[in-house]
Amino acid sequence: MILVTTAGKVGSEAVRLLRGRDVPVRVLVRDPAKVTALADAGAEVAEADLDVPASIDDAMAGVSAVVLVSPAVPAQELNVVRSAARAGVGHVVKATSKASADAPIARRRWQAEIEAGLAASGIPHTLLRSNAYMQNVLALAPAIAKTSSFGSSAGRGRSGLIDARDVAAVAAEIAAAPAGHAGQTYWLAGDRADV
Ligand SMILES: NC(=O)c1ccc[n+]([C@@H]2O[C@H](COP(=O)([O-])OP(=O)(O)OC[C@H]3O[C@@H](n4cnc5c(N)ncnc54)[C@H](OP(=O)(O)O)[C@@H]3O)[C@@H](O)[C@H]2O)c1
Repeated sequence: MILVTTAGKVGSEAVRLLRGRDVPVRVLVRDPAKVTALADAGAEVAEADLDVPASIDDAMAGVSAVVLVSPAVPAQELNVVRSAARAGVGHVVKATSKASADAPIARRRWQAEIEAGLAASGIPHTLLRSNAYMQNVLALAPAIAKTSSFGSSAGRGRSGLIDARDVAAVAAEIAAAPAGHAGQTYWLAGDRADV
């Protein structure tokens, strides 16, 4: 059984892909009403909250691999790591970004804190260190509609955005067959620097 924490952009697609391969998968969500399509595709749905360790332990029963993807609040993801360690989970695939303990950007420091906790847990794991998701651009739609433009702090820089569904495809592949991926970090990006 593979546990996918949360059914956001990456999690929901990972669940869909795993079910497409007939892999047993459970998705951890706060609100099961939001994931009826995943349940219809054969996913088990575990109602839980990443802030509530006992609810994570319930979702972790019988799990061999975890796809760890969430808003990446350290206390929450470290709750999952500790629960996975208690349950003897064999592999964690962690969605992360360009993490660094001294980054000026808080979310990158948070990811570094989570990665350190995951390493300290001793659970075999794989890091998906992705570039920015293409779906972020959709969040600019209201500004574009209002001003016909959008702002970014990239200067003249360009980045190879990646579709969150491609991140999900990598996560699903590794979770379904983790052999050879333990201790690996994969830098996922689009194949062109467009934006
Ligand atoms: N966006 C980027 O450009 C980018 C780039 C690289 C890496 N990443 C990494 O990707 C990860 C985010 O993945 P994503 O974009 O797929 O996430 P997302 O679409 O933002 O979805 C997050 C999900 O977390 C759920 N959630 C929030 N708090 C929860 C809680 N306390 N308990 C249970 N569920 C909870 C939300 O469900 P509700 O419906 O209940 O709110 C939501 O479905 C982060 O680690 C981020 O650093 C993102």
